[in-house]
Amino acid sequence: MTMSKKRLLTGLQPSGQIHIGNYFAAIKPVVDMYQEYETTLMVVDYHAMTTLRDGKLLRTYTMELVKDYIAAGVDPTRVMLFKQSDISEHTELAWIFDCLITVPMLMQGTAYKDKVANGKEATVGLFNYPVLMAADILLYDVDAVPVGEDNRQNMEYAREIVKKFNNTYGETFRLPKEIIPKEVGVVPGTDGRKMSKSYGNIIPAFATREEIQKAVMSIVTDSSAERPQHVYDIHSLYRNDIELEDLYAEKKGRYKELKEALIEDIDAYIAPMRERRASISDEEVVKILKSGGERAKEIASAKMADVRQKVGVALY
Ligand code: ADP
Ligand code: TRP
Repeated sequence: MTMSKKRLLTGLQPSGQIHIGNYFAAIKPVVDMYQEYETTLMVVDYHAMTTLRDGKLLRTYTMELVKDYIAAGVDPTRVMLFKQSDISEHTELAWIFDCLITVPMLMQGTAYKDKVANGKEATVGLFNYPVLMAADILLYDVDAVPVGEDNRQNMEYAREIVKKFNNTYGETFRLPKEIIPKEVGVVPGTDGRKMSKSYGNIIPAFATREEIQKAVMSIVTDSSAERPQHVYDIHSLYRNDIELEDLYAEKKGRYKELKEALIEDIDAYIAPMRERRASISDEEVVKILKSGGERAKEIASAKMADVRQKVGVALY
């Protein structure tokens, strides 16, 4: 007897150009695993609206993100790839969850607090972000959710919502579990803060050689330190520690040469993906999103029919 495959789902926001932190934490793990799972990938455009208020850019980043997934090695014929806003059930379910989760609980949200501390407007959307994320996940009865370290708490919210809903209305949602790549951690940006699309400190995941050069040369280094830690941390994404220890011992204090070695390694890694990416047309992207959306709609609307029945809004 063959066991049915477990389900994996994840999403990325089309809120900017994807960087190597996003790639190693949220894209590569999916590329490595997706064939063992029934895989769902989402472009979470409504989440991106919590930080992006430019319709033209949102459209561009959405198209780009689909190309990024494919360039990274996802075969679009073997996954369900769609955009969140095409499936209205996500926002519908988020409202139902809003009526179960409390304000004090969401107030603990570190992602919310961090974003507001970094100057983002404290909108209701930003505050409610984890609730919409829970709806994204729970509609599809998934087992595994690959995300970066900074999404751990959002996953706890999702599980809390499952418990509350199931306790209130009966067994409906499956408890999802995050898969967080330990070896990646939080990738530092060129300025030493967390690399982030919104901080202007990134190395783009599919950067040209010139872009890699420019970004790596601008990584901040502390001349009093044993080794340039941020350069080393980024380098460790491309080479194992033993190789790196040797290299950094051999070139001790020669920061420029170490950066040049890093540029070579990043470029060699990215080059084939850059090439693949250039061959994907906009028409192809639209076709992929439409067909993924049709399949997702079927699953999501069946789940919502059950939910509507249970909460008591379905009358006929
Ligand atoms: P950003 O801060 O760049 O806008 P997102 O919040 O859209 O990134 O996160 C997308 C995914 O990438 C998430 O799974 C997140 O955990 C991961 N991620 C983002 N930045 C980093 C980083 N600097 N290091 C490791 N993972 C990251
Ligand atoms: N919060 C994720 C991020 O940091 C994006 C996201 C939205 C997501 N919905 C999701 C990730 C569902 C995994 C599953 O970009």
